[in-house]
This record gives sequence, C-alpha cells and structure tokens, in this order.
Amino acid sequence: MNKYSSNDHTIYNGDALEILKNEIEDNSIDLIFADPPYNIGKNFNGRKGKWKNDESYLEWCYQWINLCLLKLKNNGSFYVMTSTQFMPYFDIYIQKKMDILSRIVWSYDSSGVQAKKYFGSMYEPILFCVKDKKNYTFNSEDVLVEAKTGAKRKLIDYRKNPPQPYNTQKVPGNVWNYPRVRYRMAEYEKHPTQKPIQLLERIVKASSNEGDTVLDPFSGTFTTSYVAKILKRKSIGIEIDEEYSKIGIRRVLEQYDLNGEDLSREPKIYEIKNPKQQTLFEPKI
Ligand SMILES: C[S@@+](CC[C@H](N)C(=O)[O-])C[C@H]1O[C@@H](n2cnc3c(N)ncnc32)[C@H](O)[C@@H]1O
Repeated sequence: MNKYSSNDHTIYNGDALEILKNEIEDNSIDLIFADPPYNIGKNFNGRKGKWKNDESYLEWCYQWINLCLLKLKNNGSFYVMTSTQFMPYFDIYIQKKMDILSRIVWSYDSSGVQAKKYFGSMYEPILFCVKDKKNYTFNSEDVLVEAKTGAKRKLIDYRKNPPQPYNTQKVPGNVWNYPRVRYRMAEYEKHPTQKPIQLLERIVKASSNEGDTVLDPFSGTFTTSYVAKILKRKSIGIEIDEEYSKIGIRRVLEQYDLNGEDLSREPKIYEIKNPKQQTLFEPKI
C-alpha cells in the first residue's frame, strides 16, 4: 500500500478492503461514493473486472459495503453503483441496513456499437442511501434545475388563490442525463469507466458541506476526489492500480512528478503538433 497526501486530500494505492479496514477511522466519513468493477469483464489496466461466479462477486461486494457503512458517520450518505444485473442484489442487501432514499438512473445517449437483437443498455443505476433518514445532509438549493412548466412554458397555477406562476426551478428527479466521458472531452483520462464530473458534482453538492470528508473506495481516475477538492471538501481516494493512482496524484494532488516520472497527461492525438502523428492510418502505398 502506498499513501500520498497533500493538505486535505489523500490517495491510497492499494486494496479497498485492506485500506478501509486498517486506515480509515470508523464513523469518520460524511459521504461515500462507491463505483466498483461491475463484474461484466471490463479490463482495468490488465486486471479483469470479472469474478469466478456471481456469488463470489456479491460476497466481495457485501464485505466492502459493510465496511463503508462502518466508516460512515451516523448522518452520512452512501451512493453506490453497479451493473443493472447486480443492482437488485445490492438493493435487497442494503435496504436491511440503511434507508434507500433514491434509486437513480444515470441515463446517456448511445455511443459506437449498438445492440441489434435486444434493447441495448443506456443507463447505469445508482442507489442513494442514508444511515438515518431523520438526520442527513441534503442541500437541495445547491442542485436545483430548471422547471420547464414555470421557466419555459410560463404556466400559471390557477388552483392557487390568487393564481400564481409555477416555480422556475426544482430539485432534480431520479433520472439524470449526463453524457459519458468521451475522448474529446477536456476531462477525459485513460480509463474505461471514468464517471463524468457533472454526475459527481450533483452528488457532492447535494450530500456534503464544505469541510466534510468524501471517500471513494474505487477511485479510478479520481473524479470524486477532484470534484470534492473543487467544492472545498476533504477527500480520500482508494485505487488498486498504480497507473490509475498516478492520475489521481496529478489530478487531485496537482503533483506532476513521482520519483522522477513525468505524470503529465498524455497529449491527445489532435493535440500533437506533428501532423504525421495525427494520421491514424498510414496510407498503404
Ligand atoms: C468502475 S471503476 C471506477 C471509476 C471511477 N468512478 C472514475 O470516475 O474514474 C472501478 C475501479 O476500481 C478499481 N479496483 C478494482 N478492484 C479494487 C480493489 N480491490 N481496491 C481498490 N480499487 C479497486 C479498478 O482498478 C477501477 O479503476
């Protein structure tokens, strides 16, 4: 295990179970966002996110879910993701331990290959859970979105006396539309399942306050810690892969050198000045 820190931000390069058990104090975290491998065979820099069977995947998940609950303060919030096929198991397991306040659907447009013989998957589920439904942070004012009835259609509610215009803003519902992170987006990092900044921004703003501690046990590109830092929260990010941890060291700790290794982001193909390098396919002649 390696630990890197700067001011209010800590990065652990190691196994989430070990680090949660040995390094994180019980009842110390305000918000946890957990986005584990989905057990669908994604390749995380050579580590295949696929368990020998469904039972062993769930058994592993239940272990870190229990640890997350232990580390969360009594007024803390827990957001957790997995694939559509495993989310029902998470839901049934977690509802015995916490209150599930929202079953969120992160919906996105299609990209690349699309299913032709069934209805392709266009969303990922997220559970929003709290330990105590009478005492938790929810900053609704910080996440308001436009309410079309009032803002665009300018309708009047005639059931009120006197009649009043409808609100122009509302708390978002549980279907969230954000594009997936694509190569051409400024935030793109080299990782197969990077989550969008906007998605984490809504979660961190709604479910934590400035100065709170936000933890992500499967940090990947450290989107959670990055957003937490911008929003003046403290962050703890755990990631098993050394190369992905280096993304966090650069993105969150703003450190561009590690023991002599340059951590700068690889330039994108269209950012490279030499036009020869921008040619993806060499001509055959
Ligand atoms: C779905 S990705 C997370 C993506 C992340 N939310 C982001 O925005 O980039 C899951 C991550 O968990 C990491 N991982 C897998 N097993 C782990 C373990 N036992 N402990 C810590 N990290 C692990 C993988 O390397 C991968 O980067």
